[in-house]
Amino acid sequence: MAEIAQAYNRASFFGNPLASSPMNIGPHSLANRVFAAPMAGVTDRPFRQLCRSFGAGYAVSEMVTSRRELWNSLKTSRRANHEGEPGPVAVQIAGTDAAMMAEAAVYNVERGAQIIDINLGCPAKKVCNKWAGSALMQDEPLAVAIAQAVVDACAPHGVPVTLKMRTGWSREHRNALRLALAFERAGVQMLTIHGRTREQGYGGCAEYETIAAVKAAVRIPVVANGDITSPEKAREVLAATGADALMIGRAAQGRPWIFREIAHFLATGEHLAPPLVAEVRRALLAHLEDHYALYGEFTGVRSARKHIGWYVRGLPGGDAFRTRMNTIEESTAQFAAVAAFFDGLAREADRLPRAAGVAADVVESEA
Ligand SMILES: Cc1cc2nc3c(=O)[nH]c(=O)nc-3n(C[C@H](O)[C@H](O)[C@H](O)COP(=O)(O)O)c2cc1C
Repeated sequence: MAEIAQAYNRASFFGNPLASSPMNIGPHSLANRVFAAPMAGVTDRPFRQLCRSFGAGYAVSEMVTSRRELWNSLKTSRRANHEGEPGPVAVQIAGTDAAMMAEAAVYNVERGAQIIDINLGCPAKKVCNKWAGSALMQDEPLAVAIAQAVVDACAPHGVPVTLKMRTGWSREHRNALRLALAFERAGVQMLTIHGRTREQGYGGCAEYETIAAVKAAVRIPVVANGDITSPEKAREVLAATGADALMIGRAAQGRPWIFREIAHFLATGEHLAPPLVAEVRRALLAHLEDHYALYGEFTGVRSARKHIGWYVRGLPGGDAFRTRMNTIEESTAQFAAVAAFFDGLAREADRLPRAAGVAADVVESEA
């Protein structure tokens, strides 16, 4: 027990109300230290805003390519749209060429980015075939040259640069520590580490020793990421890594209130009650309205299905409802069906069952 207590005390913000334990990235003060991870195809502006409203202290955008010819594409311009987003607006960029990455950083700064995050974490083929994302960890000089070029390009704008990476390329090549020190020297102001190697994809389990080693070696803030699916796991990861903050990805899909659940548990050691069905209904319907507004009728209805499926996961009748969702092709009908599903649920119980939505599916990145 003493060992566990000691480990918890090592975790720098355990026992402090996270809401009153802000953290800075450059000039930006973040509301707390429980962050939403960037997930291409998931953490668009509506979802990021939802996570923020449910207590995420910070949310990074889906990655934007450094390839100039794609900047005017609908996908990239949607990703670069930050209308109404609470600051700081953080844009993640991915690419393989230092000059192009520097140019992409400035392009996004000119469109409202207040923090630029470099993606060295994504294992998606589309990214890795071009040696971007986590594949860059294999080419240390190039990875550091990219970080330096982006830092130098952002400095005149007063925009801090952060970076997200994995623990290494493969089990035999876990170079996060060496790279972290080099990135710190290059002027990167915060590092997020997903506790898997590139080779692992999303398989196996995240490990936290490498994150702890990086945290012990650098002076800039370190954010621990990977497989944090519950308040208890959040506390464990903090204790194991001593990280300055936590980042949550898949477990927030369909369960954006996980941020406040974790923040509350870390601050008090007690669990919040599951959310009221009425609150979830309101949040999901507001999410759908924002989603349709960003994507339009055709794409909006289709891309909303995965979010709806995540929300109803583990709920009574959720599986059948998800199947039915796939046959509905109009936003008004989709919206009404979701409202009716949660009205039915509200007649049965005030609050969501505790296990609802807990299993975080391992999803292939759509990046
Ligand atoms: C669908 C999906 C898309 C992702 N897209 C990105 C991305 O664009 N940039 C990035 O750095 N990481 C991306 N990731 C990785 C997540 O940010 C995170 O590091 C990973 O999911 C591990 O955290 P988790 O276990 O909390 O989900 C993505 C993950 C998923 C599942």
